[in-house]
Amino acid sequence: MVTEILSGSAAVARGAKIIKNGGLVAFPTETVYGLGGNALRADTIEQIYAAKGRPSDNPLIVHVADIKDIAPLVSEISDLHIAVAKAFMPGPITLLFNKSDTVPDAVTAGLKTVAIRIPAHPIARELIALSGVPIAAPSANRSTHISPTTAKHVYDDLNGRIPMIIDGGSCAVGIESTVLDLSGAIPTILRPGAITADMLVSVIGSVKTHEGEVIQVAKAPGMKYKHYAPQIPMVISSDINKIIAEYDNQRNSGLNPVIIAGGEQILALTNKNYINLGANIEEVCTNIYAALHDAETNYDYILCFDYGEDGLAASVMNRVIKAAGGKRL
Ligand code: TXA
Ligand code: MG
Repeated sequence: MVTEILSGSAAVARGAKIIKNGGLVAFPTETVYGLGGNALRADTIEQIYAAKGRPSDNPLIVHVADIKDIAPLVSEISDLHIAVAKAFMPGPITLLFNKSDTVPDAVTAGLKTVAIRIPAHPIARELIALSGVPIAAPSANRSTHISPTTAKHVYDDLNGRIPMIIDGGSCAVGIESTVLDLSGAIPTILRPGAITADMLVSVIGSVKTHEGEVIQVAKAPGMKYKHYAPQIPMVISSDINKIIAEYDNQRNSGLNPVIIAGGEQILALTNKNYINLGANIEEVCTNIYAALHDAETNYDYILCFDYGEDGLAASVMNRVIKAAGGKRL
C-alpha cells in the first residue's frame, strides 16, 4: 500500500471519504497525530489494531466534533462530566463514560467504559464532521514507538500500512491528552496531560493524580505497556553536571550520545551534541516527542534533563520516565 501525505481542504474531504468507506486516515490533533477510523465499525477497528501492531486489550479513544455528539455513545452523563466538558472541551482531555450499545466492544477492548475526546484542532474537527461518524483514533505510531507530532513522524513509522496522512504541521501541545476517570468517589487521572491536576481541581474540587494508587494503572490498560520508547538507550537526571559526565563516558566508549535539555541548561553544553527543548515548560512539552524522534534517528544514546513534578512538568516527565524505562543517573 502506498501512503500519501496530503494537505489542505481537499485532503480532509478525501480523508472523510476513506473513513466513510471503512478505511484509515492519519490526521493531526492539537496533542499528537491520530490514526482514525469509523468508531462504529468493528472491521475498521480491527484494521487500526493491525496497522499499529497494538495489543487488542488496549482500548481506543473515540473522537467527536461536538459535545452533543457524546450522548448516543454513552449510557449516562453526570454533572461532573458536564462541568469538565464545559471547562476543557474541545481540548487535550479525554473523559471516560459508561458506554452505550452503539459502541462496538472492539473499541473499548471489552470494557464497559468508553473514552471520549473532542479535539480542538480545526482539521480534526472538520474531518470528524465531514465523515459523519465518531472517529476511533489511537496515536498514529506503531505500538511501543514514540507518538508522532508531525506528518513525517507518522510516515516514518506507518509508511505502507495506511493509505493516507493529512499533514497539518506540528502539534501544538505535543503530548497525548489527559485521560480522566470520573466514576470513583474522587475523579482520577489515568494519564497526565496538558490539562493538569491543578486545572481540574479548580473545576471539580478534587482529583487523584496518576501517581496515586496502583488501581489507576490497571484501569487504563494501555498504561501497563512499555510506551513512548525510543529504540536506543536513554537515561534521565536533574543534575546537568552528571549528564555531562555520563555524556563524556559514553563518547569515550565510542557511542554518539545526545543531550535533550532546554533553557539555561543549554549554556553548559558547548561542544556537545544537544537538542534544545525551548525556554519554558510549554515549549518543552511541545518539542519533547520531536526531540526523541530526532535523537533516535541521528544518535545512539540519549541523556535527558529531568524537569521535576510541578504542573505540566509532571505530564512531560511521565512520558520521559517511560521512554527511559525509569533509568536515572
Ligand atoms: O491525545 C490523545 O489522546 C491522542 C490523540 C490522537 O487524540 N490519542 C491517544 O490514543 O493517545 P492512545 O490509544 O495512544 O491512548 C489511549 C489511552 C490508552 O492508555 C488507553 O488504555 C486509554 O487511553 N483508554 C482508552 N479507553 C479507555 C477506557 N475505556 N478505560 C480506561 N482507559 C482507556
Ligand atoms: Mg499511544
